[in-house]
Amino acid sequence: MPLKTGNLTLFEDSNPGRALPEGVIFRPKVVSFALQQELLAAVRAIAQEAPFQHPRTRGGGMTSAAMTNAGDAGWWSDRSGYRYITRQPDSDKPWPPMPEVFRKAVAHIINGSPWPDFQPDACLINFYEPGAKMGLHQDRDERDFNQPIVTISLGDDADFLVGGLARTDKTVALAVASGEAVIMGPPGRMLFHGIRKIYPGTGPLADLKGRISLTFRKAL
Ligand code: CO
Repeated sequence: MPLKTGNLTLFEDSNPGRALPEGVIFRPKVVSFALQQELLAAVRAIAQEAPFQHPRTRGGGMTSAAMTNAGDAGWWSDRSGYRYITRQPDSDKPWPPMPEVFRKAVAHIINGSPWPDFQPDACLINFYEPGAKMGLHQDRDERDFNQPIVTISLGDDADFLVGGLARTDKTVALAVASGEAVIMGPPGRMLFHGIRKIYPGTGPLADLKGRISLTFRKAL
């Protein structure tokens, strides 16, 4: 039975009975429904300024998830490769600033973790329509791999896969729902991970069909 203090689920009970690798912390039900609604409204405002797009991959295809960013830098991919850029690729405008509600959610999630001072400067926002997925990959375009990456899920349930340091290592599947968060910090920071499946129609947010992930990084 989960121990709860207010809306904060204690870390000791946050692992749902399956062995997550060291440095990977699952925080179920950590973001209240009201805060999820605020986060979604902030995403909609960001998408007005920086519309979702499907970046080109190195292989010449397009990402299955649509992407945009907020903060000082945004993750991007095109024929020049994977990197962070400080201006939007088409308009050359800066990315929208990180909304205060994003910082508030991250501070709540990170509280009590081994990385309480984490201050993200970039948020990559992925939008998965039903059928979209994300192949196993490492996040390795940030400067400091000692900084964690914090991911918040909004909308439909998904299977989040976490593997090892090699792409072929076996993975564990973690079911992530709206308002739940995954922290990947050292020594789990560089583990391969991906999204295997979205479960359409399972999310609690009435005006969101699909899943949005907010992935917070210290990029620069
Ligand atoms: Co990633």
